Amino acid sequence: MAFSDPDVSDLVDSLSLDEKCSLVRGAADPERTATGYVPGVPRLDIPELRLADGPLGIRIPGRSSTAFPASIAVAATFDPELARRQGVAMAREAKASGQHAVLGPGLNLIRVPNCGRNFEYYAEDPVVTADFAAAVVEGLQSEDVLATPKHYVANNQETKRLIVSAEVGERALRELYLPGFEAAVEAGAGSVMTAYNRVNGTHMSDHRRLVTEVLKDEWGFDGYVVSDWFGTASAVGAATAGLDLEMPGISLEALHEAFGLDPDAEMLEEGDDESIPAGETTTPRFATELKSAVESGSVPADRLDDMVARILGQMDRIGLLDGDWGGGALDTPEHRDLAETLAARGTVLLKNDDGALPLSDDADVALVGPGVSEAMLGGGGSSEVTPAREVSALAGIRARTDGSVAFEPGVERVVTPSFFDDESADAAGGADDFPGGKTPDIDAAADCAREADVAVVVVRDATTEGADRETLRLPGEQDELVAAVADAADRTVVVVQSGGPVELPWRDSVDAIVESWYPGQADGDALASILYGDADPSGRLPVTFAPEESYPTASDERFPGVADEAQYDEGVFVGYRHFDAADADDEPTYPFGHGLSYATFEYGDAEVRGDDVVAVAVTNASDRDGREVVQAYVRPPAVAGVERPTRELAGYAAVEVAAGATETVELSLSEHAFRRYDDSEGWTVDAGDYVVEIGRSSRDIRAETTVSR
Ligand code: BGC
Repeated sequence: MAFSDPDVSDLVDSLSLDEKCSLVRGAADPERTATGYVPGVPRLDIPELRLADGPLGIRIPGRSSTAFPASIAVAATFDPELARRQGVAMAREAKASGQHAVLGPGLNLIRVPNCGRNFEYYAEDPVVTADFAAAVVEGLQSEDVLATPKHYVANNQETKRLIVSAEVGERALRELYLPGFEAAVEAGAGSVMTAYNRVNGTHMSDHRRLVTEVLKDEWGFDGYVVSDWFGTASAVGAATAGLDLEMPGISLEALHEAFGLDPDAEMLEEGDDESIPAGETTTPRFATELKSAVESGSVPADRLDDMVARILGQMDRIGLLDGDWGGGALDTPEHRDLAETLAARGTVLLKNDDGALPLSDDADVALVGPGVSEAMLGGGGSSEVTPAREVSALAGIRARTDGSVAFEPGVERVVTPSFFDDESADAAGGADDFPGGKTPDIDAAADCAREADVAVVVVRDATTEGADRETLRLPGEQDELVAAVADAADRTVVVVQSGGPVELPWRDSVDAIVESWYPGQADGDALASILYGDADPSGRLPVTFAPEESYPTASDERFPGVADEAQYDEGVFVGYRHFDAADADDEPTYPFGHGLSYATFEYGDAEVRGDDVVAVAVTNASDRDGREVVQAYVRPPAVAGVERPTRELAGYAAVEVAAGATETVELSLSEHAFRRYDDSEGWTVDAGDYVVEIGRSSRDIRAETTVSR
């Protein structure tokens, strides 16, 4: 492990006990730029280490950077190469701000549709999560910035996040919740952040089996494990379990003071619901207890050496110890373009009756909705980014159209809670003014829609770290607004900006529905490119959309849990694995993998090429160029006594197919889809025939073939 580097090992030997202890806990950043800061040791030329929040961009207090779309939107591209490029871009922005590590990607599986942080995560599927994890980590690390995949593991809800115990079986952990982290480690992540929650009764900071035995020993992770902020449950327990770095390592009060945070907007308030046991989270454990624990031998001295060596090892790896680190650039034209490409490619066309979309260039548009004059940047919490520029839906559509654009807010603003002082909103002239001095009025919005060729209604949810959504319904009176506009307008297009699945009760009465998630700074430009058909909508759902009560977590025992325990007894039947099961009562509204295109694709026969590759010819039978996401699912053979999902995603490819052209698409099949985790045997691949289904979504299969194992 990290000791193998002789220089690092010598350096560790040269440090005093106090110096070692100072390297394994955070402190206040004198520059006030970093979210997490480790002071250097000037005596030995060990430089400082700075960690900046992600994963939607780099958050530096008082500075702006590129605000990329939410991770769920990035996953909706089904194109991990774009995530790799995002990793490169975020690393360059981190470097330009002197940050050595990015606190991301967020890799928790989307288990609960209500989770307030789903927008920071990728998917309900482990193969998608693992692919995007690996891609963004490779991108970050290729620029010598340390990735920090988080929150390890089973941080699938925000309710009681500091104490809830995920009561989860080994099979579900292995098949669903761990693969993203394992892929990130394989891709070279320099660091991993532990989750706040407990897993099967033990806080993740203190979880020796998952941190040392699985992450470090089994997967060979040689970087450092950092706690979530104030998430270290004990000093001796955490250090001996394998935690290497405590963050922030200072008290909550000191943090507020050092970083100028607004104490009222704080999620980690002691005694705030029962989430934070009084006195439990604000004490920096390693700062106050580690030294004496090492002196007394309750934490072995070589464990402290290992903690230090892991941190120094990663600093060495990125060139920090030889002073060979730097460069980068903020808000470049390339980063702006990438933010727009990601937002457009991640936009999912859920419904499009009678060619309602794309809009004609000269259509007169009624643009309705309380948020159309502000870009939808993201959810609330540590991932908030201050963008260098932002384009609202109103600005994007006005810039693109040859027709007229009339605007009505319809209903009151939907405000995303912020953890930080929102100077930009204040600067924009006060949050209460709508353009043109308009006031919210559903009747006025309906009148406006009646006059236009087409009504485009933009609705949004408001999700945040620290809280789960109480309902999958859109907040406020937005559902009433859509219904009223749909009643009045000739044609109604609804644009949904949400952090995860939402219920769309009016969906049968509108002509088209576009899911654009939290598109980030390029919101309006990306939206206009999809609405007017400059880009083919090629986003596909990385989560199932269904009525709230039909998800497997729709019981208090499973979510948010009873007596601080959330039972994961649905096992591996999460997301489409649940909805596809024979005993599921409900059909999804929009299934996993769903997303329409403006082109029409026809699939040829599937052909097996080797053990783990299938090929299929995809013809674009329309007169528009298109972008298709070809998906392969594997149906396992029946094995007595084993319940397996009906189908599991094994591979996919996003491909451009020109009008009238045919492309042969090769899909690599992930072993994940073949193997299952057996509690006594470990990973098992049952012998037999596996049906490979190829199609446009988990419920739109166009070709089939068989492979054997
Ligand atoms: C979040 C982490 C974040 C950290 C630092 C925590 O509250 O859970 O995702 O990186 O704060 O801001």
